[in-house]
Amino acid sequence: MSSHRIAVIDGDGIGPEVVAEVLRVLDAVAEPAGFEYETTLFPWGCRYYVEHGHTMPADAIAMLAHYDAIFLGAVGDPRIAPEEVAGVGPVLAIRFGFDQYANIRPVKPLPGAPYPLARPAPDAIDFTVVREATEGIYVGLGGRFAPDDPQVAEIVAMRKVFEQSSEIALQTGVFSEAGSRRVIERAFLLAEERDGRRLVTSATKANAMKHGMSLWNDVFADVAREHPDVQSEWNNIDALAMRFVLKPESLDVVVAPNLFGDILTDLSAALLGGLGFAPSANLGDGHFPAMFEPCHGSAPDISGKGIANPTASLLTLAMMLERLGEQAAARAVEDAVRSVVAAGEVRTPDMGGASSTEEMGRAMAGIAAEMLAER
Ligand code: IPM
Ligand code: MG
Repeated sequence: MSSHRIAVIDGDGIGPEVVAEVLRVLDAVAEPAGFEYETTLFPWGCRYYVEHGHTMPADAIAMLAHYDAIFLGAVGDPRIAPEEVAGVGPVLAIRFGFDQYANIRPVKPLPGAPYPLARPAPDAIDFTVVREATEGIYVGLGGRFAPDDPQVAEIVAMRKVFEQSSEIALQTGVFSEAGSRRVIERAFLLAEERDGRRLVTSATKANAMKHGMSLWNDVFADVAREHPDVQSEWNNIDALAMRFVLKPESLDVVVAPNLFGDILTDLSAALLGGLGFAPSANLGDGHFPAMFEPCHGSAPDISGKGIANPTASLLTLAMMLERLGEQAAARAVEDAVRSVVAAGEVRTPDMGGASSTEEMGRAMAGIAAEMLAER
C-alpha cells in the first residue's frame, strides 16, 4: 500500500476553514482508494508572526523537505501583519526554497459554477496557465533610497521627478536563460500531453521591458523550435489580458513570467466563477516536495464565517493526489466536486446559496468515497 507524508500549512483567514475540508475529503478517500497518509500541521503564517516576529521558523524549509507534498491553505492577514510580510513568508519562501518554478493553474469552468461571460459557452474554455514562480520581479531585489543616497545618484539624475521625491524605490527583476527555459519547456511538454489544439501562448512585454522580456522571447523561440509538433505564438501581456476575456476559447497552454502569471490567473479565476474555484500546484523537478495551494488568498472579509467555497482547495487536493500517483482518488475527488457544483443543491454564498464550507465539504467527501467504493 502506498503511503504519503503531507505537510499542511493551514495559514490565515479562510485557510484553516478550507483546509479542514481538504482533510475531511482526504480522510474519506484514502481507505477506499487504498493508500495511507500522515499529515503534520504547521501553524505558520500571520498568527505565527504576531507571536514570533516571523511567519515561519528559520529551519522551516529543512523541516518540510521530509514530506512528499505540502498543502497550503492561504497566508495573509492585513489586520495583524503587513502585506509584504505575508507574501515573502511561507508562500514565496517555499516556492524559492524548493525551486518550485512551475506554478500550474488550470482554467476549465465547472458546469454549474457562476460564469461571467456572455460568450463563449463555459464548456468551450479549457486551458492551463504555466506561471514561472521563482524569479522575475518576485526575487525581491532593490530597496528604498533617499534621493541624495550616492547608490542611486545616476538613477535620480534621469528624471526631474525622481530628484523632487522624498524617496525612491528600486524593484529589480531577474530573468534568467535557464529559469525561463525550464518553465517554457514545461509548458510545451504539457501542451504535448493535452488532447486537441497543442498551442503554447507566451505572455510577454518586450516593447516596454526590453531586457528581461527579450531574453524570455529568445528562449521561447528556441524551445518552440525544439517542439515542431506544438504550435506557438506570443502575445503582449496587455493584449493577452483582453484575449482572456474576449476569446478565452482560443487558448490552450499559456506560459507567463511570474508577475504576469499572477495577474492573469486572478483574471482567469473570474472565468471559473471566482477565486473559490481556482486550484494550483507549484512544481519543481521532483527532488523536493511540491506545494499545492488554491489561488485564493485568506479572504479576511469572509473568514470566521464558515462560508468560504472549498471547491478551489478540493480541486487542488485532486492535483496533489494525482502528483502523488493516486490517480483513482484524484479522479474521484474531481468528479465529486464537479457533481456537487453541477447539482447546485449545496452551494456557498459566492454561488448564490446559503450552505457552509463544511456542508459543501461533507457533500463532496461523501460522493468521492462512494465513487471509489463502487469501483
Ligand atoms: C498567488 C498569490 C501570491 C503570488 C502572493 C500571496 C505572494 O497572489 O499565489 O497568486 O503573488 O504569487
Ligand atoms: Mg495571485
